[in-house]
Amino acid sequence: MHITNDIKDVNRLRKILQVFFEEGFGHYILKSRYRKHLSWGKRFKIIPPPSEYAEAAIHLRHAFERLGPTFVKLGQLLSLRPDLVPLEFCRELEHLQDHVPPFPYEQVQKIIEEDLKQPLSTIFSSFNPVPIASASMAQVHSAVLKSGQRVAVKVQRPGIQEIIDTDLDILFHLAHSLESHFPDTQNYRPMGVVKEFAYWTRRELNFKIEAQSAQRLCDELKDNHKVLVPKVYREYSSRRIMVQDFVEGSKLDDMAVLKRNHINPSRLAMTYFTSILEQALLHGFFHADPHPANIFVDKHGKLIYLDYGIMGYLPREDRDKVIKFIVSLSERDADKSMDIIASLARDVSKGDVAQFKQEALPILEEIYGFSIAQKSVGSALYEIISLGAKYNIIFDPNHILVAKTFYQAEGMGLKLNPKFKLREGFETFAKLYLKKNYSPQKIVGDIAGTFWKQRNLLFDLPDHLARIVERMENPEPRHVFEIQQLLELEQEFEKANKRKTMSLIIAALILSSAVLFYMEGRTELFGLPLSLVMFLTALILMFVFIIYKKGGGWYDGKDR
Ligand SMILES: Nc1ncnc2c1ncn2[C@@H]1O[C@H](COP(=O)(O)OP(=O)(O)O)[C@@H](O)[C@H]1O
Ligand SMILES: [Mg+2]
Repeated sequence: MHITNDIKDVNRLRKILQVFFEEGFGHYILKSRYRKHLSWGKRFKIIPPPSEYAEAAIHLRHAFERLGPTFVKLGQLLSLRPDLVPLEFCRELEHLQDHVPPFPYEQVQKIIEEDLKQPLSTIFSSFNPVPIASASMAQVHSAVLKSGQRVAVKVQRPGIQEIIDTDLDILFHLAHSLESHFPDTQNYRPMGVVKEFAYWTRRELNFKIEAQSAQRLCDELKDNHKVLVPKVYREYSSRRIMVQDFVEGSKLDDMAVLKRNHINPSRLAMTYFTSILEQALLHGFFHADPHPANIFVDKHGKLIYLDYGIMGYLPREDRDKVIKFIVSLSERDADKSMDIIASLARDVSKGDVAQFKQEALPILEEIYGFSIAQKSVGSALYEIISLGAKYNIIFDPNHILVAKTFYQAEGMGLKLNPKFKLREGFETFAKLYLKKNYSPQKIVGDIAGTFWKQRNLLFDLPDHLARIVERMENPEPRHVFEIQQLLELEQEFEKANKRKTMSLIIAALILSSAVLFYMEGRTELFGLPLSLVMFLTALILMFVFIIYKKGGGWYDGKDR
């Protein structure tokens, strides 16, 4: 197959090759079949490959900026993907700027009237012709609906679909050529990258999908009064238009405005961090591009999520794994953390899992030794996923988005509050999580599961109890633990209790009595706090149990 013949726009191909050549990537072009598309002067030069990643990364960023929207988008996608490009490139590509002038109002009007099939003046009572923001894909105007509601109208850049289609066509050919001429690049799967990029970009180019995402995010965050997703007008939205309530606010990191509005940045950092966790871990559908221009703060300190072009999905079992991973971090159990990460991988069939784990372990161990300001968990996850590419451990793009989102959220948390502690962020979230998401059955199931799995249960019992009792003593709505749930608790234990080890019986007894006391509204027993009584009971039982065990009593310490 003579691939070059298939390229629809050879002039654009030449332009792209020329820019890459000028930015120092001539080595690759000269070795490929595309050499003949270079001018004569360039064709016979001898050019070594770029020697330093950091240097090459800067040039790649320049090349992308010079080549316009498709490449800017590609760079933005790559900056999110340490599994696809070396980390140095990710970090450099985060600084991509799109220098595109706004397009004229006449075109805005034309697109609106074409898509909504009515004159602009029948929908809007006024429309500001000067955009409030303009980027490579779209620009945003403020307007007022006939109802008097002020709205933000996002309009797609004219001709952008065609530009992107042409560039994607060329990118597929270039990626193919890269894979066949430079087998080293195969680990980074150029064809796979372009395919995925094409998928995401086509989604992003359809504002109907963005409007749907806005709606879904709005629904899932409706009970969180600290955040807001402005209402979307689906009736005025199309593939190229999205209309949404206009929101007054400043960028999340505009410290001067926060100060003027007397907004406490530490509290804001916490609201922001927990709302990201809430989306990713509670609902499994999350805003995966949470940079400051996409998140506003109103004058009361409410967070406003904008721009729903990149959203991540996390199914329930993956959410559970991520939560287990977070818990394993607090337990400082690097092996366990590593096992969980490896279990998240989508494809390990061609991978070297042992080598991957061995090399990734020190990255995790490093987290324990440092405070979050020095070593971010998100960035460590990010590094680990990037290592995956080296050992052919392939992760799901959604997991990478989670890592990236945590990484960004931590960075933002620290920017707002230099003393921001990730641990507190997770703890605050855990309270919210336990209160809202874990149905009593699930709590029970998990507790039973945990107890069952713990070999040395009794030694851990006081710790578990402390957590359970602490939860009970928190002023939570009483209906959380109803009698019905107590019965279910017992049934759950009964189920998990097939082998009837003594440890489970003890745990069930203590738990049941704790719940009973709580239900009676008691926080004290014999004049002592309930938590202390529970601890003492657990300790006494533990000692009794140990003595029995030593004496070769009815339990030999093995699960039967
Ligand atoms: N509902 C809105 N209310 C007020 N300003 C908005 C609204 N939506 C977008 N904007 C402004 O337009 C900018 C770009 O919008 P965004 O949806 O992020 O587009 P892009 O996909 O081009 O980044 C935002 O950073 C914000 O300044
Ligand atoms: Mg944006």
